[in-house]
Amino acid sequence: MVAARGRNGVIGAGNAMPWRMRSDLAHFKAATLGKPLVMGRKTYESIGRPLPGRRTIVVTRDPGFAAAGVEVARDLPAALALAQALAADMGADAVIVAGGATLYAQAMPLADRLVLTELDLAPVGDTWFPTPDPADWVEVSREPRPRGEGDDASYDIVVMARR
Ligand SMILES: NC(=O)c1ccc[n+]([C@@H]2O[C@H](COP(=O)([O-])OP(=O)(O)OC[C@H]3O[C@@H](n4cnc5c(N)ncnc54)[C@H](OP(=O)(O)O)[C@@H]3O)[C@@H](O)[C@H]2O)c1
Repeated sequence: MVAARGRNGVIGAGNAMPWRMRSDLAHFKAATLGKPLVMGRKTYESIGRPLPGRRTIVVTRDPGFAAAGVEVARDLPAALALAQALAADMGADAVIVAGGATLYAQAMPLADRLVLTELDLAPVGDTWFPTPDPADWVEVSREPRPRGEGDDASYDIVVMARR
């Protein structure tokens, strides 16, 4: 799973991200390029288009949902099965769950790696990343990065692996 969270765990507000982080957009692109992305319908709508260089799978219960250039799955297991098939097709070594909060919560027990952008801010929000249980997850790397141009805060790129 790839996510950016504030110190307070906030990942979103009003179906958008409550910060401006140009550096993290670049990090997200580098972390996900060439891989299939699984995302909830609300996250897809907040982005508004399939991201180039990746394959997007939107999870929704709406049988009428369709969008150009994306695959649709009716539940998380179907989305992950489709993502694995696409990963094999693309030569990708991972499938990415890219949010939002409902997808992160459902996929947490299935994920084997968390790539977290931990922002040095604590915004007001309405969606949160589930707290990784230290009994299940160990931090394997933490790379501090300075606040760049177009960024609201400095941040750490943290990788956690399932124990
Ligand atoms: N900071 C970050 O890294 C990050 C990343 C991604 C998103 N976000 C933020 O997170 C927020 C959105 O998160 P969210 O939790 O509100 O929404 P979400 O997880 O993006 O989407 C929720 C929708 O996904 C569908 N869904 C979820 N579980 C399903 C299941 N098991 N089977 C079928 N469909 C399922 C449903 O769509 P239907 O209602 O169509 O059935 C549900 O309403 C936004 O603020 C966004 O900006 C932040």
